[in-house]
Amino acid sequence: MKYTRIAGTGGFLPEKVLTNHDLEEMVDTSDEWIVDRTGIRKRHIAADDETTCDLAEQAARRAMSAAGKEAHDIDLVIVATTTPDQIFPSTACLLQQRLGIRGCAAFDVQAVCTGFVYALGIADNFIRTGSARCALIVGAETLSRIVDWTDRDTCVLFGDGAGAVIVEASSEPGIISSHLHADGKYAELLQVPAGVSSGLSQLADAGAFIEMRGNEVFKMAVTTLGRIVDETLGHNGMNKSDIDWLIPHQANIRIIKATARKLRMPMDHVVVTVDEHGNTSAASVPLALDEAVRSGRIKRGETLLLEAFGGGFTWGSVLLKY
Ligand code: COA
Repeated sequence: MKYTRIAGTGGFLPEKVLTNHDLEEMVDTSDEWIVDRTGIRKRHIAADDETTCDLAEQAARRAMSAAGKEAHDIDLVIVATTTPDQIFPSTACLLQQRLGIRGCAAFDVQAVCTGFVYALGIADNFIRTGSARCALIVGAETLSRIVDWTDRDTCVLFGDGAGAVIVEASSEPGIISSHLHADGKYAELLQVPAGVSSGLSQLADAGAFIEMRGNEVFKMAVTTLGRIVDETLGHNGMNKSDIDWLIPHQANIRIIKATARKLRMPMDHVVVTVDEHGNTSAASVPLALDEAVRSGRIKRGETLLLEAFGGGFTWGSVLLKY
């Protein structure tokens, strides 16, 4: 049996920090409200000349170094992002060139906050079927470019960053299962209503910004993530107590706590980084994973449940032995 095993992780946050107190100077909000309703204390913001690929490159180099891999070892590159550098080439191709990786498949995945979980599920299929042996998977975002900094409903929530993993074929588990879903019926609850085909002029004239019906998104996220926990455990005939660590999408501490309650998981076995960087969309799960691995909290052989929910709606999980 061939498994897909995580060989190394990496993360990168841009230098500039925007605290809740900084936001108090920009919109009608307070540190107390933001911490109480979201758990976020600060977020990192890319410099004007810093792109998604720049962040992805730093995270990727750290993951390659942790895995002991060189450019020539990698035969698949997937970047999950909603904020690509260019319309084309894909950010994955730009990253491939930066890292000196040649010839292998490289493509972007767009599933908003679920993007990294989608990319990991896709890579697992490539590896288990023998189409790839060693993949670089990155979640990277410069969401600050599509945030309306005058809208207090959304601007307090998001930040920039990148997280990466190297996965490789192994006879040891490995990814146990991945579960990917979407329902486009909910597109209007969370969207950036501008794009190439529907009119780039909107971008230039009015700006293309995240629009969200926060309350409805919140309720859907809590119920949907509860269902994906049941689906993942049921598929594998496992119990809640079999999971050692929950590594959730870092959007809101209240959503994270609701999923932890569903799993009967004590919060000291839930990786929480949302306070440090807010919602970094596709970067959030690999950033949390990297933090927990580097701090030594997650050990080889432990069972991890990764989950995410985002625009689309999209949602998914990956169950794995680290
Ligand atoms: N500062 C202060 N007050 C704010 C505020 C801010 N930044 N943003 C909104 N408010 C106000 C609202 O205007 C509202 O005021 P009102 O009662 O006078 O109308 C009040 O706070 C409560 O708003 P509500 O939307 O009910 O708050 P909430 O408890 O639902 O929290 C979110 C708002 C956005 C934090 C929450 O809905 C959420 O996290 N949603 C999901 C977001 C998310 O995760 N999106 C990405 C998914 S991948």
